[in-house]
Amino acid sequence: MKGLIRGRITGTRTPFSSEFVQPRDFNMATARRGGRWCYCITVVLLSCALSLSRALSMNMPGQVSTKIVVTGAAGRTGSLIFSKLNADPRFDAVGLVRSETSAKKLISKTRCDLNEVVVCDVTNMEFGEEDDHPWPTILDGAAAMVICTSAVPQISKSSVIKAMLKAPLNVLRGEKAVNFRDFKFKFKPGQYPEMVDYVGQTKQIDFAKKVGIKHVVLVSSMGVLDPDNFLNSIGKDKNGEGHGDILVWKRRAEKYLCLSGLRYSIIHPGGLVDTEESKMKLVLDVDDNLMRREKKSITRGDVAELAIASLTAGDKGRSVSFDCVGEEVEEGEAVPSAEDTLREFLLSGRTADYTLGPSLPNLP
Ligand SMILES: NC(=O)c1ccc[n+]([C@@H]2O[C@H](COP(=O)([O-])OP(=O)(O)OC[C@H]3O[C@@H](n4cnc5c(N)ncnc54)[C@H](OP(=O)(O)O)[C@@H]3O)[C@@H](O)[C@H]2O)c1
Repeated sequence: MKGLIRGRITGTRTPFSSEFVQPRDFNMATARRGGRWCYCITVVLLSCALSLSRALSMNMPGQVSTKIVVTGAAGRTGSLIFSKLNADPRFDAVGLVRSETSAKKLISKTRCDLNEVVVCDVTNMEFGEEDDHPWPTILDGAAAMVICTSAVPQISKSSVIKAMLKAPLNVLRGEKAVNFRDFKFKFKPGQYPEMVDYVGQTKQIDFAKKVGIKHVVLVSSMGVLDPDNFLNSIGKDKNGEGHGDILVWKRRAEKYLCLSGLRYSIIHPGGLVDTEESKMKLVLDVDDNLMRREKKSITRGDVAELAIASLTAGDKGRSVSFDCVGEEVEEGEAVPSAEDTLREFLLSGRTADYTLGPSLPNLP
């Protein structure tokens, strides 16, 4: 939170926490000293302090919060994960963003401190052997990294105009006025899927190893088993030439992570939407089985919750790769939390089969 003094490098925070003093310990200590009134007043004061600490997301003296690096932190899912972690006293988030413009976007969106943000284009993440500490010290001591970077396609304005001109004819034919697939997209030079979703991700994984990060949560995508998925055509011309294949590059980066020796949690969300979170039941599966569903979307807030659950719902540190979508619930039906849903899934022992899908050239 803005204004708080934080021990950024060690990951400690200023006093007060909801977890440091357990109400039960307090109960026994105070009872021994006697004085029911004293006890009651202290309980009330303690509850107020706990609520305040939660609201201010501060820790009790001595409590160390776990440092998590969130990359692509100015993005739509990344910024949600970053701000949720920042509001949670168990964590201390550092955001990694592509440019100063993205840094400003993140700071104005989440009101985080300037010193919680590192600017780095992941396609250029280089660490010369001669310099033994070339990265900002704020990145030291992190326990986990949540990767939310991805190549961002730019829509071609001429394709929008063409699609708009076709709209009346489509309506007369009884078809959808505007077909999303009529739009053309391109990537900025050097920022296409191979560079961001593969090279950039492998560099982040290498970096994680170099700084001693033990666990990487990677937000990838559902559909990675199908080379003919529409998303792979984005960035290519009508002859299939150009920089595309975003899902193929994502899958390749996933494999790199699986072989890295780091603990991993790979999340494959269905189509991302920005509806209210925690309103849908989360359905988890593997190997694109959920692609057969009619509705295969999930709100970014729920993906953010699953990413955070991946940090907390560890099944003895087991690595896992899973798909996820949201499913409507009946009126009055309870919606299980992302953490409970993930815990239950982890108990099933299921994970993606990396022998499936497009055959990939040798890594790296
Ligand atoms: N859209 C969907 O329906 C869908 C479905 C399934 C999965 N996914 C995947 O889910 C993830 C999150 O999606 P989203 O829509 O929330 O993402 P997003 O808003 O597009 O964010 C992507 C982030 O990556 C950053 N980035 C791109 N290139 C970078 C570079 N070279 N160096 C550092 N940062 C870089 C961008 O930085 P800037 O802020 O500077 O642009 C942006 O903040 C992505 O991997 C996406 O592919 C998306």
